Amino acid sequence: MQTETSVLVTGGAGFIGANFLLRMVPKHPDTRFVCLDRLTYAGNAMNLRAIEDAANFHFVQGDICDTALLGGLFEEHGFTSVVHFAAESHVDRSIEAPLAFARSNVEGTVALLEAARQAWPEDAAGAGDRYRFVHISTDEVFGSLGDSGQFDEATPYDPRSPYSASKAAADHFARAYFHTYGLPVVLTNGSNNYGPFQFPEKLVPLVISNALDGRAIPVYGTGENVRDWLYVKDHCAALEAVLRRAPPGETYLVGGDSEARNIDLVERLCDLVDAVEDRPEGYSRDLITFVEDRPGHDHRYAIDFSKLEAELDWQPEHDLTDGLRATVDWYLRHPDWLEAVRDDSYRDYYARQYSEA
Ligand code: NAD
Ligand code: DAU
Repeated sequence: MQTETSVLVTGGAGFIGANFLLRMVPKHPDTRFVCLDRLTYAGNAMNLRAIEDAANFHFVQGDICDTALLGGLFEEHGFTSVVHFAAESHVDRSIEAPLAFARSNVEGTVALLEAARQAWPEDAAGAGDRYRFVHISTDEVFGSLGDSGQFDEATPYDPRSPYSASKAAADHFARAYFHTYGLPVVLTNGSNNYGPFQFPEKLVPLVISNALDGRAIPVYGTGENVRDWLYVKDHCAALEAVLRRAPPGETYLVGGDSEARNIDLVERLCDLVDAVEDRPEGYSRDLITFVEDRPGHDHRYAIDFSKLEAELDWQPEHDLTDGLRATVDWYLRHPDWLEAVRDDSYRDYYARQYSEA
């Protein structure tokens, strides 16, 4: 990345975006990072406390669908890169309230692409490394695997939940902006992230938090669905490499090389919490409760990330054993964070989404 560049990071108060900013802001003091986040239930400004006073960091609360706000921000800050995390990200919520996903994930992405197109020169893709639009997407756009095989960059799209459909639509728009307008877009499709600052509706922090509180731990269906688990700090390292070195128009899959059945992952987390809390063996496993399956529940995701490895020299540095240990350790050391994000302010979320849509 060049010095004196200015990067717009959307959704930077959420889980992955916050981890990305906490890595990048101290590491690149000559680059200005502006975080634009609407602060939905999933975004929390306190995630960014460690960098809030940094001279090269600025926070703006706002919506990526607000085209006037976007135009003003591009004009004021002269962004040369965009790293686009902002999205509704939880599959179960997308099943309950899909419109909010169409709005933020599809309309919001198009608004952002359009703002970059208006602000950047027509030959932006040909302007060396000066301009980049990194669009962060998910492996869920590829659908569901059987018991073997892996997704790679050539796998056809087959989204099966409203969340993955909205991300797929956004990906298509991002590629269309590259092909039609020459916008220097790069895409990433990552697998299941876990680590610090993840809202406790997602499986890993939900299990840790319920085990800590002695509450039932819900496992959907038989617990045999398989996910590939990517430690969030490894994902952020991959995104930094993509931002700095990926050629416009390229796509990279990012995986953790750590497949696990849900039930096995849940049991490992239970045992880790019990070990740290000095509880009798099997205490938290007894909280596991098999519940009704998620509708359209994808069976398995697995990632071939050899392109990222070969072209940008990236590999995950954390295996599941040390990643889960570090994650459990973080949540146990931050009970105040868990308490703050679980307060009642997000419970009327669906009501707000319906009235806005
Ligand atoms: P998250 O839900 O934790 O955070 C999303 C952030 O976006 C929040 O801070 C929220 O306030 C903000 N936001 C939502 N709608 C907005 C809007 N209209 N305008 C401005 N800000 C808005 O999500 P995450 O897990 O950090 O995921 C970040 C991105 O990475 C998403 O695009 C997601 O699809 C993608 N992704 C996530 C994973 C994963 O396992 N979590 C894996 C691969 C890709
Ligand atoms: O694959 C990448 C995707 O991973 C991201 O794009 C999404 O933003 C992110 O939310 C995640 O999606 P999943 O649906 O895979 O994650 P979640 O943590 O919701 O669920 C993981 C698995 O655990 C999944 O098979 C469903 C199951 N599950 C989940 C919850 C919340 C349970 O069994 N019980 C639960 O309570």
